[in-house]
Amino acid sequence: MTRVAGLSAILAGMQYAETILDLVGRTPLVRIHRLTRDLGPADRQPMLLAKLEMLNPGGGYRCIFVMADKQSSEKQQLLRAYGAEVVLCPTNVAPESPESYYSVAARLARDIPGAFKPDQYWNQENPDAHERTTGPEIWEQTEGRVTHLVASVGTGGTITGIARALKARNPRIQVIGADPEGSVLSGDTARPYLTEGVGEDFLPGTYDPAVVDRWVRVSDRDAFAMARRVTREEGILAGGSCGTAMVAARDVVRDLTQAGAGGEAVVVVILPDTGRNYLSKVYNDEWMRANGLLATTGATTRVSELLADRHRAPDLPPVVVARTTDRVGDAIAVLQAYGISQLPVSEDAEGDAVVGLVGSISERGLLERAFRDPSLVGRTVGEVMDPPLPLVEASVTLDEAFALLSGGSPALVAVRGDRPAGVVTKLDFLEYLAHRPPRPA
Ligand SMILES: Cc1ncc(COP(=O)(O)O)c(C=O)c1O
Repeated sequence: MTRVAGLSAILAGMQYAETILDLVGRTPLVRIHRLTRDLGPADRQPMLLAKLEMLNPGGGYRCIFVMADKQSSEKQQLLRAYGAEVVLCPTNVAPESPESYYSVAARLARDIPGAFKPDQYWNQENPDAHERTTGPEIWEQTEGRVTHLVASVGTGGTITGIARALKARNPRIQVIGADPEGSVLSGDTARPYLTEGVGEDFLPGTYDPAVVDRWVRVSDRDAFAMARRVTREEGILAGGSCGTAMVAARDVVRDLTQAGAGGEAVVVVILPDTGRNYLSKVYNDEWMRANGLLATTGATTRVSELLADRHRAPDLPPVVVARTTDRVGDAIAVLQAYGISQLPVSEDAEGDAVVGLVGSISERGLLERAFRDPSLVGRTVGEVMDPPLPLVEASVTLDEAFALLSGGSPALVAVRGDRPAGVVTKLDFLEYLAHRPPRPA
């Protein structure tokens, strides 16, 4: 779509806006494809459209912004770049505290001659503006086909205004609020959380609870992981509260698809701000890890994935097991031929059941001993073997499996059902972790 330029520009035949204010609104809708691929066949899914409110321009009047100190440094820098003053207040104080950003803003508005406080939490212009503009835009952009609106909620102005405009045109439209865990809007007990711009510890006057048909409560961890997915998979650089909204949108898409009601539905999700505001937070692995929001690869990957992914010689069977009756010389030849360092030993000549595993041999141990006593190579494996390797279910995580290795054992036998599925050595762990970047939890 093209943006609508100011009238004077249209009359002149050229396409430009008279001022940056003429470019507020008319943000585009973009279809989301990849993020919902796992939620069922595409032809049974609702159409999911994201409204890129993040593309609205910022800046304008001389301003003093009073904000909580949990807000990202990018936001503070951005406001200062526009020439605004920024006053930071502590996040974790009650709204009525004289230190809270609500109280400080009120005081500044009172004390500075001619000051005007937009008062986003109580000023009805906030929901009214969305009722006049954003809501009708969504109606027109979807040709009235929108059936569900999903928005993360802070002041409530966005969801209240859009919902009023849409429900006036079609009362059956469902409105879904997305709220951080720890916000009272969806009825949770107030406690600190890291997602910025959404959730509250009080009910703002700009939010009308009657417009919300359903709430989805979203943790910081899920919101940030989803924001990163929106960026990587859809190419839309998304902030944390976009993640909150998208988690809820996916829930809605999943439920509609499973109920067989996806075909006709059009879900619009609001994406409020850009991930550029959170490069030092949501998009900074160190910050994410320091806040326990980025799981290590070991905590999210299963031993079975390591087995499936590791690079091995093409002719190497998944598990090689020596028999107690094999000659040590033959077992050493097998270790060398396949380039492996450990073999479980079975007393079971017929099958490879886990119960038959009675010992293990290692290349290093055998070679050292054979060097000192060459007659060893003619003896049986059963005579010289070491204790059995610890067994671990292939379904456990690498972290759980690695804990067993810290006991001093050089390797583990991964097990599926009553069969060994593979031998995993310390080196396998190291190689796997070195080549896999950490992924969001
Ligand atoms: C980053 C961000 N996301 C979402 C919202 C929620 O919008 P509303 O306050 O209209 O509920 C805000 C509000 O300022 C915000 O700053």
